[in-house]
Amino acid sequence: MGAPPPARRMALHGRDVISIRDLSRDEIEEILAAGRRMIPYAEGAKVTHPLEDKIVAMAFFEPSTRTRLSFESAVQRLGGRCITIADMSATSMRKGESLSDTIRMLSSYADAIVLRHPNEGSARLAARVSERPILNAGDGAGQHPTQTLLDLATMHEAFGTLSGLKVVLLGDLKYGRTVHSLAYALALFGAELVLTAPPSLALPEELQAPLEHLGARVTREADVSRAVADADVLYVTRIQKERFPDETEYRKVAGSYRIDANVLAHAKSRLIVMHPLPRAGEIAPEVDATPHAAYFRQAFLAVPVRMALLAAVLGEPRRGGR
Ligand code: NCD
Repeated sequence: MGAPPPARRMALHGRDVISIRDLSRDEIEEILAAGRRMIPYAEGAKVTHPLEDKIVAMAFFEPSTRTRLSFESAVQRLGGRCITIADMSATSMRKGESLSDTIRMLSSYADAIVLRHPNEGSARLAARVSERPILNAGDGAGQHPTQTLLDLATMHEAFGTLSGLKVVLLGDLKYGRTVHSLAYALALFGAELVLTAPPSLALPEELQAPLEHLGARVTREADVSRAVADADVLYVTRIQKERFPDETEYRKVAGSYRIDANVLAHAKSRLIVMHPLPRAGEIAPEVDATPHAAYFRQAFLAVPVRMALLAAVLGEPRRGGR
């Protein structure tokens, strides 16, 4: 018998991560702490290979740059290897193969599957047929829990806490999966939320109710400059053009908000501007050179945070863990 088991045991080993609600507050905090320790490894300054004998499948059935490449970088920094589907048209799904068959097969080729798919609920479906953990990298307008982990890491790095932060969620709160996951996590950590969206892109009612249930302070402010005035974080999102059932509806809201030096003139000096990227005109390039811009740091933190998550799900189980 060696050292006693840790007081709070993270039982993420072998688990699926489909929705942010699959993770407890303690588990999120542990991933964030492990993510901070991973930074020098993500930068290549130190080396660790806990996934030396592991293969992770990247199954991306929708466009991706940062999510797929940061996951691949994370796997490789941990000494593992990837097999990747980056183009659906090059797979047998083109021949009519179902997602279930594709996942069942992939789960016999890899130790875990990172899945991005246009249909909401696809990751949950995949988890039912997969022998191996599924990490949801975006299921349509549903959830994007691993993005939330790196979003929280970015805020924590800037402010040393999440509780009490005033966070403006701006843009497409209807179809934006990053904000669907993030709003819940921020409420869980005691942040205050300000929802700023064109009326047709408001956060769906079924996603607002749980925030109130968690006791979060949630307000709505249509005017961006007013919303930003006493905020700590401005989280900007892209209008999810590809999710609109029709182009005229999209055109009505396209270009309806843009963050530039004028908007930020009203902000606190410590305000950070975040964006999951890609941006499509919502943040003027002039913001990049200001101390407010946090979106490129946010994109980098994807690597250490995903390393921490992969190591927890796939690495050696902790003593006493599952
Ligand atoms: C987002 C996504 O795919 O949901 N991008 C990302 O993962 N960093 C946001 C978007 O596409 O607007």
